[in-house]
Amino acid sequence: MLRSSRLALSAPTLDDVAAITAECQDEAIQRWTTVPSPYTRADAEGFVREVATPGWEQGTSCTWGIRMGGPLALGASRQAGDAGSAGASSGSRGAGAGSSGAGAGSSGAGAGSPGAEAGSPGAGAGFFESNSVQVGPLVGMIGLDNITDGAAEIGFWLAPGARGLGVMSEAVGLVCSWAFAEPGPGRRLDHAPGLQNGQGLRDGQGLGSGQGLGNGQGLGLRRIEWRAFVGNTASAGVARRAGFRFEGMHRLAGVQRGIRLDDWSAALLATDPRTPVPGWPPFTFARLGSEARGASTSRVERKRRRL
Ligand SMILES: CC(C)(COP(=O)(O)OP(=O)(O)OC[C@H]1O[C@@H](n2cnc3c(N)ncnc32)[C@H](O)[C@@H]1OP(=O)(O)O)[C@@H](O)C(=O)NCCC(=O)NCCS
Repeated sequence: MLRSSRLALSAPTLDDVAAITAECQDEAIQRWTTVPSPYTRADAEGFVREVATPGWEQGTSCTWGIRMGGPLALGASRQAGDAGSAGASSGSRGAGAGSSGAGAGSSGAGAGSPGAEAGSPGAGAGFFESNSVQVGPLVGMIGLDNITDGAAEIGFWLAPGARGLGVMSEAVGLVCSWAFAEPGPGRRLDHAPGLQNGQGLRDGQGLGSGQGLGNGQGLGLRRIEWRAFVGNTASAGVARRAGFRFEGMHRLAGVQRGIRLDDWSAALLATDPRTPVPGWPPFTFARLGSEARGASTSRVERKRRRL
């Protein structure tokens, strides 16, 4: 399990199927990820059984369900989050809960503190104890896919009620910190999938065991790539806040349910700072997002001056 003061990330299980099914009905998730559409309970079950679980076992992908570990409840308003979430803070379309996955961490590692005492059980129904932390229902998914030769692709989605609070930026920070940390002895991931001989990546047993980064529990990656269909400015914001550097637009390089689409890519190297860097084109900023407000204002201002 990966944790910050308000989040707990752990492998999705069959207990999460109902939540995944409900959350993947969301229009934005269906529009911007590769989850099946329409999305059924069988899709969520297939994702847990055939994608997420074997990914951990074989070392080819790591997927975490994102759970609120503090007093914030699913559905908390942006104002509530802005006003003072417990938050430490810091897509990919692939981390899907789809046939090939809902994409979705920290083992007390990285950006956040080890998390306990994140808050009162407060938010109520559905909270349970996990490693001494009050953990709430699943609000999203984040994952690392195509783990090979020291690189991986990150993917994610959030339930609508959990958006606008910095939850995904925080989760991405946790996952990247963990993925870049050196692996423990006997875990050679530079050429993953390479954990044959019974050395699979089992959550609770191996890489997701909840031990801190200092204990050599990471993946030792050098590069994490982000890809999103052109126009997904919300996802671009997450990648930008995490320090990813924009690498370009790729014509018809993405595939969604059999249809080729243009996509954007960006990447974060293990040696990169985890703060936003210049180089993201204006069109990757949301028109109304707070990040873009300054840019939009200056564009409007420039136009006004020309008139
Ligand atoms: C992509 C997606 C996960 C982004 O969700 P999000 O809530 O915007 O992302 P974060 O959790 O990082 O929150 C960032 C927002 O919260 C605000 N925020 C509030 N508190 C914050 C904090 N402590 N830290 C960072 N941001 C914070 C930010 O200002 C930002 O809002 P803005 O965009 O209006 O500026 C979500 O839109 C989604 O699930 N979309 C559908 C699926 C999808 O597109 N997946 C990616 C495929 S590539």
